[in-house]
Amino acid sequence: MQYRELGKTGIRVSLLGLGAVKFGRTEGLKYPTASMLPSMRDLTKLLATARDLGINLIDTAPAYGVSEERLGTLLSERRNHWVVCTKVGETFENGRSQHDFSPEHTLASVRRSLRRLATDRIDVVLVHSDGNDRDIIEKHGTLQALEQLKQEGLIRAFGISHKSVAGGMLAVDRCDVVMATLNVDHQDELPVIELARARRCGVLIKKALDSGDAARDPQRRTRSLEFAAHTPGVSCIVVGTTDSDHLLENVNVLCAVR
Ligand SMILES: NC(=O)c1ccc[n+]([C@@H]2O[C@H](COP(=O)([O-])OP(=O)(O)OC[C@H]3O[C@@H](n4cnc5c(N)ncnc54)[C@H](OP(=O)(O)O)[C@@H]3O)[C@@H](O)[C@H]2O)c1
Repeated sequence: MQYRELGKTGIRVSLLGLGAVKFGRTEGLKYPTASMLPSMRDLTKLLATARDLGINLIDTAPAYGVSEERLGTLLSERRNHWVVCTKVGETFENGRSQHDFSPEHTLASVRRSLRRLATDRIDVVLVHSDGNDRDIIEKHGTLQALEQLKQEGLIRAFGISHKSVAGGMLAVDRCDVVMATLNVDHQDELPVIELARARRCGVLIKKALDSGDAARDPQRRTRSLEFAAHTPGVSCIVVGTTDSDHLLENVNVLCAVR
């Protein structure tokens, strides 16, 4: 497995990261096929496989149902192996997303994530944007609250999982990390990734397989992962899966990338 610097955070991340949406949520997702919540036994095996393959970053969120709580149990013994990334700003309850980017909610949300993840520090916290990136960055005070948590030593780095190119460009100068969408069919955010590279801001990639669409065909899957890996500035490609065989397939593609 290849490792890369996450901008100037001092955190080294595996080129492939693990997205944990399906660890805790089944409703309201845009994947091509619906799935059941995996058992804790299956997730224990998946995480052991991921660790053995050299994956060290896992991405969760309060909006991913019981994903954080489950990871709190699953990661406890091997906490130091993992770079844990979670989010603030969105919750998902009773089939609905709700957003709150206020400093008060941000501080309370991170403290709740610390409890759920059963840890005394979170490596990366991203704002889970609802699309109003500029307001989040400039008006709500969300990033200032995250800076405060960083000063207190509760989080190591922060950033935004933005939804617009303009938001991503703004975020690069104010954050340690951005989470950008990048796949063969969605290249609009290349300027954000390029600017992040120039500013040494870490870049996590979401939806590299177009949320599963690009995974149906092995050639398209390989092309998509290689494309993200070869894009200068990319630190870690976070691919969502609960399937060990899929994980291994993705690792095999990325281990061949030089
Ligand atoms: N912050 C945000 O706004 C945001 C939004 C979206 C995503 N994210 C993060 O980014 C991560 C990745 O995005 P994503 O999950 O939407 O999309 P993705 O990684 O592009 O695709 C995930 C889908 O691809 C399937 N898959 C993965 N590897 C496969 C393989 N080798 N063969 C066949 N199918 C495969 C998975 O199903 P199986 O489980 O069957 O493998 C899953 O349905 C998320 O998990 C999350 O951590 C963040």
